[in-house]
Amino acid sequence: MQEILEDLSRGETPSIVPLEQNVSQMAKEVKAHEELVIPLIQLKKHDDLTFTHSLNVAVISLFIAKFLGLKDEELIHLGLGALLHDLGKLLIPPEILNKPSKLSEKDYEIIQKHTIFAKNILDEKTRLPERVKEIPLQHHERIDGSGYILRLTKEETSVLSRITAVADVYEALTSDRPYRKALPIPEVIEYLMGSAGHKLDDEVVTTFIRHLSPYQVGDLIKLSTGEEAMVSKINPVLPFRPVIRIKKQDEQGNVYFSEEIDLSYSLTLTIIGEIDMKSQIDLERTIL
Ligand SMILES: [Fe+2]
Repeated sequence: MQEILEDLSRGETPSIVPLEQNVSQMAKEVKAHEELVIPLIQLKKHDDLTFTHSLNVAVISLFIAKFLGLKDEELIHLGLGALLHDLGKLLIPPEILNKPSKLSEKDYEIIQKHTIFAKNILDEKTRLPERVKEIPLQHHERIDGSGYILRLTKEETSVLSRITAVADVYEALTSDRPYRKALPIPEVIEYLMGSAGHKLDDEVVTTFIRHLSPYQVGDLIKLSTGEEAMVSKINPVLPFRPVIRIKKQDEQGNVYFSEEIDLSYSLTLTIIGEIDMKSQIDLERTIL
């Protein structure tokens, strides 16, 4: 989808082939595991936020795995396991899941059981390989043994679970939750970097971050000069140094954007932050 959006923003005809391949692969998987459709629909009904989160985690996990060079069969197992990673939340009361305030110790203890609950549901109702079922069970384990629910260390978990753990943290922090707003992507990247090597798998985090762009085409940012600018292209080699256009005003007060400036060459210019959504909406109204 990212590639399609970028092609469209450049005025080019997007290639639909990779998307077609993904969808046909998904269709094959759904056919092979029809017994999963009902639990997933139940999960959506029970907790829409968890369902959307699961879809996103599956996509992000596959994105990471592709760059780690995983084989096709591993990708399929990862996609399925990541899609089902929070299935156990079906058995957690929604009032605990969506509590707008801080969770009590008891609530937290109950929530932790969603890992075991998922494994039990899948053992009972599906014929999925162990490798898939391990993902829901292990996705909250941390490599230093500080996670839950079995307190496993890196060597005791599967790489598929460790990939899902990184995708899960990333997706959760970049989304709004009932008790907090989404964090900006650069902050989430910093958090991931800080957790790499002791909580999260170092290689998985590094690979993910190397291919992750903290900015999207169209994002509005603040520069070290105090000026505002719009991201116009992502630099895949240096994602923190995109190509931008600076916001200007002519003598009549009309807003326009400058010629493109490639931040990978203009090293004196740095991005100091993103402009929040509200001002983004106001600014976008000036780009007609
Ligand atoms: Fe979870």
